[in-house]
Amino acid sequence: MNKKPQRPDRSAQKNTQDRGQKRSQGGKPGAVGSLASNSARSDHPQRNPPRGNVKPESVTTPVAETRRLITRKGELPRERVPVILESTGAGDFYLIDSGAGLKLEQYGPYRIVRPEAQALWQPGLPESVWENVDAIFTGDTDEDGMGRWRFPKAALGETWPMSLLDVDFLGRFTSFRHVGVFPEQIVHWSWVKEQAEKTDRPIKVLNLFGYTGVASLVAAAAGAEVTHVDASKKAIGWARENQALARLERAPIRWICEDAMKFILREERRGNQYDIILADPPKFGRGPNGEVFHLFEQLPLMLDVCREILSPKAIGLVLTAYSIRASFYSIHELMRETMRGAGGAVESGELVIREAGLNGREPARVLSTSLFSRWVRQ
Ligand SMILES: C[S@@+](CC[C@H](N)C(=O)[O-])C[C@H]1O[C@@H](n2cnc3c(N)ncnc32)[C@H](O)[C@@H]1O
Repeated sequence: MNKKPQRPDRSAQKNTQDRGQKRSQGGKPGAVGSLASNSARSDHPQRNPPRGNVKPESVTTPVAETRRLITRKGELPRERVPVILESTGAGDFYLIDSGAGLKLEQYGPYRIVRPEAQALWQPGLPESVWENVDAIFTGDTDEDGMGRWRFPKAALGETWPMSLLDVDFLGRFTSFRHVGVFPEQIVHWSWVKEQAEKTDRPIKVLNLFGYTGVASLVAAAAGAEVTHVDASKKAIGWARENQALARLERAPIRWICEDAMKFILREERRGNQYDIILADPPKFGRGPNGEVFHLFEQLPLMLDVCREILSPKAIGLVLTAYSIRASFYSIHELMRETMRGAGGAVESGELVIREAGLNGREPARVLSTSLFSRWVRQ
């Protein structure tokens, strides 16, 4: 059996966008900084839902409105490092096995094989298990769309019902190997759920780069008022479908199809604030009007603006970063500097998923999925 699908070329070039800058309305202006200039190719799998994420060379339209970084004063927040947030799956998902550049996962009724560059070891389970699957992402054609999925047992529809943290949504075979949910995020979603449930008022949650909305739905189900922002009209459409499936049509969720940077800059000007902000930006992304998001260039400003739109009783600012060549310390120190004077603590590390075997109950090796850094009031 050849378990190694060909990987698409993900080489990245530095984008040439022009970032016009103007002074902020609050605090002292400082230099507009970049996190790093190195945007070299990453070996991590890219998350590329339709239209939202792009290679930087394809568009050079600037985000017109931007501002300088605020010079922060005061004590750095306490730090907790390294923090490894581990999930062994929950609800309808678990990682069965991994190895040889692949992972074998259970998503509801389906067993799925997808590329996983970080699985350098050999699979723990026999080939017969890896062959007895419902879907394989081949990535071995240049075609877009469902052509990249192979269904060895029977042709499958594009979607199927799933449930995580008691929220129903649709799993989905997308053209970019993704399945409509990033289950490693469940650790952050459980944290948001806990905060929403234990706070004696409806908290306001902003979910930036929200994709198919599972985090937004988990927060709304726990009583939060949610603002969900994503650049992809298609992803917002999927999120609304998920909202209906989760029977949360009446929950207070604003679905906003917009460039995340543009949105938060506007919220800052309007003085709108949130208790929890979740941000899961891609390394490169594009807003609906061609605005380029380049993580290494825009993350400092993004966090700076996010701090300004945290409410006085804010509970947390949660950042995940994936497919980047950086240590969690880069986002950790940036988060601490950004949150200077705010009290609380910054905890940073990795989100990992532990293999759980065929029955989902046999913990084995750990697969790293992304870096994270979060400021928490407590
Ligand atoms: C990896 S997904 C986020 C996944 C989500 N946190 C979850 O766990 O379900 C990244 C999302 O960012 C969106 N995106 C990319 N560039 C964007 C931009 N400039 N503004 C807003 N959203 C953007 C994409 O459309 C995509 O849905």
